[in-house]
Amino acid sequence: MPHNRMQFMAGRILRNEPHGEIFYRLEVSVPGPVEFTPGQFAMVSGWPGNDPLLPRPLAIFHSRSAPKGKCAVEFVYKVVGRGTALLSGMHPGEPLSLTLPLGRGFDLKKGGRLYWLVGGGVGFSTVFPAAAALAWQKAEFEMFLGSRTRQQLPPKELTPAGPAPGRVHLCTEDGTAGFYGRVTDAVRERMASLSAAAASRLTILACGPREMLKELALAAADRGAEMQASLENHMACGFGVCWGCVVALRDGEGTAYRRVCKEGPVFDAREVVW
Ligand SMILES: Cc1cc2nc3c(=O)[nH]c(=O)nc-3n(C[C@H](O)[C@H](O)[C@H](O)COP(=O)(O)OP(=O)(O)OC[C@H]3O[C@@H](n4cnc5c(N)ncnc54)[C@H](O)[C@@H]3O)c2cc1C
Ligand code: FES
Repeated sequence: MPHNRMQFMAGRILRNEPHGEIFYRLEVSVPGPVEFTPGQFAMVSGWPGNDPLLPRPLAIFHSRSAPKGKCAVEFVYKVVGRGTALLSGMHPGEPLSLTLPLGRGFDLKKGGRLYWLVGGGVGFSTVFPAAAALAWQKAEFEMFLGSRTRQQLPPKELTPAGPAPGRVHLCTEDGTAGFYGRVTDAVRERMASLSAAAASRLTILACGPREMLKELALAAADRGAEMQASLENHMACGFGVCWGCVVALRDGEGTAYRRVCKEGPVFDAREVVW
């Protein structure tokens, strides 16, 4: 069921600590329950001072109920600029504002599909919740996780792969772990070995750099596979008011503009004008 009732919540940080070499895991206590579809996100703000003024979007990584009707919501993030740097300096007990759940997540409802989840860089924080949901549904899935070096791969303890052997394919551009090369090369290589019948059952769920998504979209189209791409455009409001996050989609012979925060962030990759 889609979770469309966004709420503003005044939260309090439970933990905010480094995980692995470059990621932070943030857990925030909020006053009520939070249900979400994998791929949905929150707008997060509340760092000291008003700069940056705008909240920052983060994928909802996990949520669990907590005592007294509260809920603990988790995020995984990488420091890339001022907002995430200020966030990384915050401590347990400090307040944080969240608006969530936002956007339209992955569609995991189709039966009989073979899912390949692809996370480039910190994109794993968007696809891991989908992996957890697919594991729970006992769906058939594999994961391809790519980064520049071994140190930038997702921390093992966060990886919800389940016990099936060969389910997680690590890829590093410098060859320090797993497949030596880009995650797109690993996916293309593996796709080439699929029968036409298997390729027609394939749905790729992906989040990562735009170039990665574009290349996967082309590879999926070549083999007649489906793909749902989670886009990470810059956002101002996060809930459909400012039109600051639009993406061009194919619309008949022309182009239509859609808001990544509202009609996305997950789109059918065949519709996106890459
Ligand atoms: C729906 C959605 C979900 C996201 N989920 C996560 C998540 O779970 N974990 C996570 O770490 N990040 C996630 N992001 C990206 C995150 O929002 C940005 O990294 C963050 O807003 C950067 O803020 P900043 O103030 O630290 O950096 P800024 O000062 O705003 O930017 C610093 C640098 O990072 C680049 N940058 C900023 N935003 C993005 C972006 N969205 N994509 C690529 N480059 C960017 C800028 O161009 C600039 O070069 C998500 C983005 C979206 C839209
Ligand atoms: S960020 Fe304002 S409409 Fe999408």
